[in-house]
Amino acid sequence: MLNFFKKKDVANPIFAPLGTDMHCHLIPKVDDGSKCMEESIECLQTLKAVGYNKVIITPHFQYPRFPNDEDDIKNRFEELKHCAANEGLQIELAGIGGEYRIDTAFKARLDNPRFLKVGGKYVLVEFSLHQQMMGSDELIFDMQMKGYEVILAHPERYPYMNVNGMRLEQLKNQGVFFQINSLSLGGFYGDEAKHRAFEMLERGWVEFMGTDTHNTMYAQALRDLTHNRKVEKIMEKYQFLNNTL
Ligand SMILES: [Fe+2]
Repeated sequence: MLNFFKKKDVANPIFAPLGTDMHCHLIPKVDDGSKCMEESIECLQTLKAVGYNKVIITPHFQYPRFPNDEDDIKNRFEELKHCAANEGLQIELAGIGGEYRIDTAFKARLDNPRFLKVGGKYVLVEFSLHQQMMGSDELIFDMQMKGYEVILAHPERYPYMNVNGMRLEQLKNQGVFFQINSLSLGGFYGDEAKHRAFEMLERGWVEFMGTDTHNTMYAQALRDLTHNRKVEKIMEKYQFLNNTL
């Protein structure tokens, strides 16, 4: 009986086929993610437990809320690596990227690019979660014209972007990669995001899956998600590009 109650705390490594988590906020104190080194270590242990063997960390770059600097973030990443090694963590900290908000400051970033790329190849971008910014799709197009490979973070989370609308389809048609959040599949961000995530998978629009882990609350939700049969089936049915990173 005791085992029955303990079952939920034991993570199922269902995300092993992905290999790499490519979206999370585990550099302490640089954004709305992890608040301290201990929290980062605990979250990384969870990522290992749910099946990942590599992780790429992607702090927010968003003006003026998170005015991060690429060189500073690189240094902090090295500190985290050092601590993780001291703790004997069995997950590889494979790289540092950024989650770049397409905001009013983004054009300046594009004019003077210092992007921290996911896997050294992709620029991970996100839109506002509340309202559409005029000209944001054009900025993505400009990036592509300059030769950048663009991943749009969690397209299922933008309430103003419908799967049946023109906008997501247009981004898809012009070669933008889509990354959904695994937690969306369990309803962590609400039913609408959940349905949109499943619909995008069915349409074959999703190349990457990320955890977007911010803290231990997300990590626990991720552990719980590994007991969700529907999500387990998704992992068996679809292939992602995470394991190419
Ligand atoms: Fe994120």
